[in-house]
Amino acid sequence: MTVAPPPIPRAAGSLPLLGHAIPLLRDNLGFVASLRGYGPLVEIRLQPGQSTIVVNDPPLIRAMLVDLAPTLDKGRFFEKMGQLLGDSVVTAAGTEHVRKRRQLQPAFRHAEITRYVDIMREQVTAAVSTWRPGEVLDVREAMVRLSLDMLAATVFSGSIDDDAFRRLREDLSVVMNGVGARIMLPDWVERLPLPANRRFTAARDAVRATIDTAVAELRAADRDTGDMLSLLLRATDEETGRPLTAHQICSEILTLAVAGTETTASILSWVLYELARDPAIDARVQEELDTVLGDRPVTFEDLSQLPYLARVIRETLRLHHTGWLVTRHTLTATRLGDWEIPADTELAYCQHALHRDPAHFPDPLVFDPDRWLDDGRRRSGAPASQLPDETFLPFGAGKHKCIGDRFALAEITTAIATLTRAWHLGLTTDRAVRPVARATVRPSTLRMTPRPRTRARPTTI
Ligand code: HEM
Repeated sequence: MTVAPPPIPRAAGSLPLLGHAIPLLRDNLGFVASLRGYGPLVEIRLQPGQSTIVVNDPPLIRAMLVDLAPTLDKGRFFEKMGQLLGDSVVTAAGTEHVRKRRQLQPAFRHAEITRYVDIMREQVTAAVSTWRPGEVLDVREAMVRLSLDMLAATVFSGSIDDDAFRRLREDLSVVMNGVGARIMLPDWVERLPLPANRRFTAARDAVRATIDTAVAELRAADRDTGDMLSLLLRATDEETGRPLTAHQICSEILTLAVAGTETTASILSWVLYELARDPAIDARVQEELDTVLGDRPVTFEDLSQLPYLARVIRETLRLHHTGWLVTRHTLTATRLGDWEIPADTELAYCQHALHRDPAHFPDPLVFDPDRWLDDGRRRSGAPASQLPDETFLPFGAGKHKCIGDRFALAEITTAIATLTRAWHLGLTTDRAVRPVARATVRPSTLRMTPRPRTRARPTTI
């Protein structure tokens, strides 16, 4: 006789017309973290009458992302992104997703990333050359601009002139912010004749027009400019054998800008924050950079030679993860562990809460890069690197795992290795910076002051 699983509890605090809007508005991250106490699955209401099952248990999260992936759609969050930016690898499901992912994959191959690192470093060098000693920087904003510059330069550097590049970057920035704001709002808000809506539509149309022109020119000239746009132009649609249309390419690029900019920018900001908070960690990063690089700039070959910086970045991806509700949607009745989930149900999990779960990470709020060491130098508990895979999911898992994972790690390492050698960034206040969850989890406000970094040079006797 099989025993029926316990019913899925509904989290406290739901109201008939508001669902869980009040606890979510008051403190969305605190609310989602509190859901762990309800067990493996818990129901919340993001909209009145619409239930979302939050999956807390790591093996069930893995089942949702990997084993059940063929029977699940991507959910509300991604649907909205598709409506705003067009269909892309980020929004597609099923065979359509497999096809789109194959078309995009060549742009993220190891061989391409080796070339992108020089482009990324040039953008970092240009950005930090405008900083002035002692000025107060809004670091999150600076990192969003920098991440967008690095991505835009990788995609377009060879294909459009400087003026078009500057305009495109501004327009992409408006689109990115607009998507962030709209993803949480009801659809009718987008149709109101508000200045913000007009700006969003104008910027999105301008990006499409610029990319259309660049695609037409590159096709006419039959040139390989060596950037990502050039690679996408050569990709073909598997079913028809035809090259991607300018419209398809544009939808992919718009969603890459959204998927790859805020995320990278938040992680960069938190790395700088943690380096400022702990001078010993900062000193170890600089020592490693001095030993490996001497006086030369960082290159692709160096990225794998910086194990301590890699652990700092890994620990940042753990403690300060950008994902708070990654959604899926059941197309048919689906068995998840012992539970039968009806068709048309929204599922979700929260990486931010998972990575701070004391059951998997001792002293979860302590920033300790050495928790990733396999030897005895870490502070406590089992080495985090020996935990089951499903407890640490910085880039997700399964067929929707981040396509830009190596790209992102290359960007973050290149940026930190370049900018922290030129500047030391100090916090302007002792107050801890809070994470806030919007489209992604990011630092509330992070103000820092750059001071030129002086390196002790080896003296010759
Ligand atoms: C630190 C930075 C980043 C983090 C933490 C991150 C995290 C993630 C995660 C968790 C997913 C899976 C979402 C899901 O399960 O539905 C994802 C998907 C994706 N990411 Fe990233 N990402 C980062 C940077 C980037 C960059 C730089 C790019 C591109 C330039 C990118 C492009 C994508 C795309 C296209 C997908 C969808 C893949 C698919 O559905 O097949 N990401 N990312």
